[in-house]
Amino acid sequence: MTFKPTMAFASLLALPAIGIINATAETVHVSTPATSLVLKADKGKELRFYHYGDKLTDADIKSMLSSSSPSVNAYAPYGMNTRRETAVAAVHTDGNMTLDLVVDGVEHDGNTTSINLKDKYYPFYVRLNYRTYPDDDIIEMWSEIYHGEKGTVDLTQYASGYIALPYGDVWSSNLFGEWAKEGWLEEMPVPHGLKVVKSRDALRPNHAAHGEMMFSLDGKPKEKSGRVIGAALCYPGSFKLRTLNDNSNWIHFFAGINEENSPYKLEKGETFTTPTLAVTYSDKGLGQASRNFHRWGRANKLAHGDKLRDVLLNSWEGVYFDVKENEMVQMMEDIASLGGELFVMDDGWFGDKYPRDHRSQGLGDWVVNTTKLPNGIKGLTDAAKKAGVKFGIWIEPEMLDEKSELYEKHPEYIIKASNRPNVRGRGDAQVALDLANPKCQDIVFTIVDTLLTKYPEIAYIKWDANNAMAVHGSQYLPASKQGHNNIEYWRGLTKALDRIREKHPDVVIQACSSGGGRVNYGYLPWFDEYWTSDNTDALQRVYIQWGTSYFFPAIGMGSHISAAPNHQTGRRTSLKYRTDVAMAGRLGMELQPKDMSDAEKEQTRRAIADYKTIRPTVQLGDLYRLQSPFDKKGVASLMYVSPEKDRAAFFWWKTESMAAEQLHRVPMDGLDPDKTYRVTELNRIDQKALPFEGKTFTGRALMSNGLPMPAFHNVDKADATDFSSRVLLLEAL
Ligand code: GLA
Repeated sequence: MTFKPTMAFASLLALPAIGIINATAETVHVSTPATSLVLKADKGKELRFYHYGDKLTDADIKSMLSSSSPSVNAYAPYGMNTRRETAVAAVHTDGNMTLDLVVDGVEHDGNTTSINLKDKYYPFYVRLNYRTYPDDDIIEMWSEIYHGEKGTVDLTQYASGYIALPYGDVWSSNLFGEWAKEGWLEEMPVPHGLKVVKSRDALRPNHAAHGEMMFSLDGKPKEKSGRVIGAALCYPGSFKLRTLNDNSNWIHFFAGINEENSPYKLEKGETFTTPTLAVTYSDKGLGQASRNFHRWGRANKLAHGDKLRDVLLNSWEGVYFDVKENEMVQMMEDIASLGGELFVMDDGWFGDKYPRDHRSQGLGDWVVNTTKLPNGIKGLTDAAKKAGVKFGIWIEPEMLDEKSELYEKHPEYIIKASNRPNVRGRGDAQVALDLANPKCQDIVFTIVDTLLTKYPEIAYIKWDANNAMAVHGSQYLPASKQGHNNIEYWRGLTKALDRIREKHPDVVIQACSSGGGRVNYGYLPWFDEYWTSDNTDALQRVYIQWGTSYFFPAIGMGSHISAAPNHQTGRRTSLKYRTDVAMAGRLGMELQPKDMSDAEKEQTRRAIADYKTIRPTVQLGDLYRLQSPFDKKGVASLMYVSPEKDRAAFFWWKTESMAAEQLHRVPMDGLDPDKTYRVTELNRIDQKALPFEGKTFTGRALMSNGLPMPAFHNVDKADATDFSSRVLLLEAL
């Protein structure tokens, strides 16, 4: 969870002595099976950072510490000898703007090591926490800040964590983008000076940048070799990642909430707990770092990360706002007949005084529009039952339209600056609830609770959030705490989400935010999956899904077959290609099936059946990226391998289409070299089988040579397509 319950100041002062070991000098070795983080915590001195990376032995650490190895302040405070970037800054009650933090003690509690820092003069304290996840080689860090000064201390900087990378040919890989282009990959040598990746949008941060970063320490990022440090800030609000390359022995990395315009008034007795920063280390390139995040994400972050996801049909691109009962029922029957398991009714089903016929009204009034749905939601859940599929529904509980009954009754419930007009978002109508306000938190809880209590058949919720934090201002917070606006929003939403999950632990919830605006580990604990992007164009999705896979697992990656021409790019790609791209994530559909021909339906029926045979491998297996679309080689390819290495799903998509093209051969990865695998093509459209269909190969041969893919499909001229693609199932004999 992003925010822990506030800890009382008194209880922190009364920490039991039991956990404190070696109170005067301590080497802190936070380790997982393959990684080590080494700090030196000498009581009364600065906390020093020595190492994060390869697993070190006690002897390694001893020689490192006894040989004047370089070290650096592990959580640099602002004010004394401040020449570099800092992690924490505060203004004391007497106006003094300096911090001078030294170690007060170290505690160990299960998998968590905490280091208490205190100011040399002021009663100001920071507790740095490092929690290990041994199964995944992940260390999660966060800080708790509190004080005993008389009055309020202004916190002006509050990083979640810091790590230092040894200086060298270090490259960064991070994701940027905006609506319909989320998860775009950018890789570059870490420049000298400060590289800042940040978002100022407290509601949909990823539409500017993403809060994750990979560092390749041995030159240009590679998938299978080289040392890599991965970092994921677990916070879905405005964030800041700072990478400082400052002519020292180190490259410094700080991550946390974007503190700009968010000074925090910390009361005496209150603890400010930052979100966490999760880091991992791999000596086998980017691929292993991603797999660490995926395993950790499934086991510790996503809701129900061990349960297979259903194949679904979502109504959005099929009917948009034009929801009608008979068409909803027809769509349910269609997805059931195609082998799908869930139907999701998207936007457009609600609103009485202001029917949700378009994007400019109705948000906030979660009452069924009985003109569109005469038999209400019960009529739909009954129909879903009859059709043999589960039923899901779209909501956007944090937002309102000005044209809504809720807004008319309670204009004081929205984010708004005093003495300023509303700043409207989507549809020139949308505003956000002021979730600092407990009444607004209740509204969010009640929307979900009412739906799920009244209609227990609802198995799935698509939770959308389409507004940016367009304006700074809480109508609930006092004038002195307007700086808390962005932070209190997330605290409020977290409280509502906790209540929802406590009462409704089993419902599947998708995190959507104008597409992928909130794909972040700080948000996913309440959610089963994320809508990667509103862009359903298969070719562009190859890129978006590639970037997203750096940090996030396929089990959560909603990926839908949509219509051609694509509604976002206008591109026409074959049903085969659209399906093959969607099969690499959590497969779904997003179109009106009644517009499909019988042949297309039959092809899709077979593809869904094929997907079910690889679903556990895609959703719970290990990802091996083979050929990046960002390398522009005309082909992209990746594969998933089951943990036992007895099954694999191989994906290969053309990313350009030229005649007489020299195609890169793609060696496979992740297989057991000594196992023999039988190859079967899935979602096959070719009249003639591939030359290797049904044949067997050792893992060694497949990882050494790959399989040569023909550039085009063997189909009738009338069915010829550009952008060929292949999905192969590999089964160990
Ligand atoms: C957002 C979502 C879409 C769809 C619409 C509905 O844009 O990202 O998938 O749900 O809202 O209005």
